[in-house]
Amino acid sequence: MDTSLPILSLAAGAAAAAAAVAPKVKARIELSRAKHRSLAGHSRMARRVARLIPFYEFDIGDFFRTDGAPQEIATRRQDGFFRLAALYRERFAGGRQLTSEAAGRISDLQFTQAYRVPFQYSRLVRENLGAGSFMQASSGVTLTDLDGNVFYDLTGSYGVNIFGNDFYKECIEAGEKRARALGPVLGAYHPVVVENVRRLTEISGLDEVSFHMSGTEAVMQSVRLARYYTRRSHLVRFAGSYHGWWGDVQPGVGNPLSPHETYTLAEMSERTLQVLRTRRDIACVLVNPLQALHPNVNAPGDSALVDSSRAGLVDRAAYGGWLKQLRRVCTERNIVLIFDEVFVGFRLAPGGAQEYFGVRADMVTYGKSLAGGLPIGVVCGRKDLMRRFRDDRPADICFARGTFNSHPYVMTAMDEFLSRLASPNFRSVYNGLEELWNGRAQRLNEMMAAADLPVRFANLSSIWTVTYTTPSRYNWMLQYYLRAEGIALSWVGTGRLIFSLNYTDADFVEVAKRFVTAASKMKQDGWWWHTPLLTNKAIRRQILKEMLSSRFKR
Ligand SMILES: Cc1ncc(COP(=O)(O)O)c(C=O)c1O
Repeated sequence: MDTSLPILSLAAGAAAAAAAVAPKVKARIELSRAKHRSLAGHSRMARRVARLIPFYEFDIGDFFRTDGAPQEIATRRQDGFFRLAALYRERFAGGRQLTSEAAGRISDLQFTQAYRVPFQYSRLVRENLGAGSFMQASSGVTLTDLDGNVFYDLTGSYGVNIFGNDFYKECIEAGEKRARALGPVLGAYHPVVVENVRRLTEISGLDEVSFHMSGTEAVMQSVRLARYYTRRSHLVRFAGSYHGWWGDVQPGVGNPLSPHETYTLAEMSERTLQVLRTRRDIACVLVNPLQALHPNVNAPGDSALVDSSRAGLVDRAAYGGWLKQLRRVCTERNIVLIFDEVFVGFRLAPGGAQEYFGVRADMVTYGKSLAGGLPIGVVCGRKDLMRRFRDDRPADICFARGTFNSHPYVMTAMDEFLSRLASPNFRSVYNGLEELWNGRAQRLNEMMAAADLPVRFANLSSIWTVTYTTPSRYNWMLQYYLRAEGIALSWVGTGRLIFSLNYTDADFVEVAKRFVTAASKMKQDGWWWHTPLLTNKAIRRQILKEMLSSRFKR
């Protein structure tokens, strides 16, 4: 009897199994290697780590010397802090009163108040430097609060405000008049929809349009359509990119569930291109062009400003080159390339990020500014991608409806926005825009350097972020000095400064001066005390030690 036969067939079977499994293993390894090495590139791990971080906070005895500063510096900081607190109490009394009455029942307010600064410092800051979360008026580039204080507006209304608040007031008022006859009738369209569609297809260079109520919804719809069209399951997003708060595009911290059909990959990476070239389950790639300012890094907020490692630098040619590579691979693999221009659309160039970086997408989402100040989300796409039913399979549809889509008031305000944008006079706002904002950033950086202040600015046109050159645990204090100088920031503090394009040179000079004054006062108060031992790495190690001792203390 030949006993080698079963052994041979066993070996052949094992070889066949290995041959079958090997490509899967290879694909899995390639996928792992295409993740960005930071926590932003590892969503599940980030969530696990986030769950392990224990709460602890500094009481007044430690608060001012958590970086090991000597007593003399801690006293200076404490004096500065309580001087600011007294000023806030007096100057923002009305706003603080209403905010404290309202906050108990507005969950959003509780969240934003708690996350303005690193949590270890949050309570004392909240109790003493609350400035109120209400405004009563806007005009030019300023906002006025309930106590009559006037601020330069760098909040940008989350990016909605590109052309100045007065511009949006006009759009809404004129739009409201035109929608009045029809009123809030939904289902049937206001005829102005046709003109909006014409303009949007022209701007995007794409064939069809669908209307939604928010940027988040527009992104949801674009991904759903891409999945339907390709019959593939997965979306690719890049580490750190924000695309709204829908679960599938927010796989990490902030979402209690892990979406199973999302790959978070590294941006500007050859390994990512390799994954796109080889996997067969990828329906679409989502790009947020704002990431050009800080690829693979989460949107910067002062609640995460624990040291001075925040960075930003736009290399327009390099990022444009990356988008071109993505374009090529997506075309080869029939993967839908989606530009999420909810934030940057209409801000960088008349044709948005597609024009700015010289790359065409298959679908583009817009939002924020587009409806002249009213809530909006829009998907523009290629005809084949936008189709929600199949002629040969009548029951196989891609459903997407929404009660308020194409609301008449939103549509007329959008027409006001788009028709102003189309006028050649108005369009000149884009001439030299890039040079203007880069020049302003450079000037302010020079002013900071000349005053020997550790504050710098990085920008994508009119979208800015503040960076810090000296390692410090207290950079987030700058937002409070800025408010005292009449600068309004959003709840993410110095992470995002959003200028509207109606800032004149004179307005900008004033803002620049106030920045220098605020930073000088902060320096005088000792917050940027420093020794060579105080590196960013040492700060992070110190924080880890604090967390461990808080977690394991009896
Ligand atoms: C790029 C991008 N996509 C989507 C969204 C979500 O838009 P919305 O807040 O209108 O839902 C945002 C909001 O900031 C965004 O910046």
